[in-house]
Amino acid sequence: MGPQQQSYWSRGKGSPSLAHVPTPPPGQEDPLSHFHMDTLLMTTHNLLFGGTETVGTTLRHAFLALMKYPKVQARVQEEIDLAVGGARLPAALEDRSTMPYTDRVIHQVQRFADIIPMNLPHRVTRDTAFRGFLIPKVR
Ligand code: HEM
Repeated sequence: MGPQQQSYWSRGKGSPSLAHVPTPPPGQEDPLSHFHMDTLLMTTHNLLFGGTETVGTTLRHAFLALMKYPKVQARVQEEIDLAVGGARLPAALEDRSTMPYTDRVIHQVQRFADIIPMNLPHRVTRDTAFRGFLIPKVR
């Protein structure tokens, strides 16, 4: 997160996003465009649902693991204090390279928590031939 973004956030204002662009009123959408109210609602729904349970469950696993292994927790805390300090918020991408131990702990938590072991179900919208296989549309 850059300083400008941080200042927006501290004032309770995020940067402009998809939700700031006015959508055409219902009934007046361009049928060829993907930009209308239904899409905006589904995208928002996907982001909120896709992003809350997954992160919440991962964090619960992480907290339990760190409670069980206090030495690991102390080492992560030490690395955070050194790389980020107490005066600013962590910046996900910029700080990652200076926090290799924390990065590995997060990956290890995700590996053993394995919260979506069979992935999400997918289906094709029409019969699809792929590398010699036929993936049929379920009717
Ligand atoms: C630990 C955190 C997360 C895990 C384990 C996770 C896991 C997954 C998995 C397994 C898929 C299906 C991928 C596929 O179709 O092959 C997926 C898709 C998706 N995730 Fe996440 N996710 C996480 C965090 C998030 C967050 C934070 C967001 C949004 C802010 C999010 C939004 C989505 C969306 C929108 C899709 C559908 C993408 C598409 O089909 O085009 N996820 N996620």
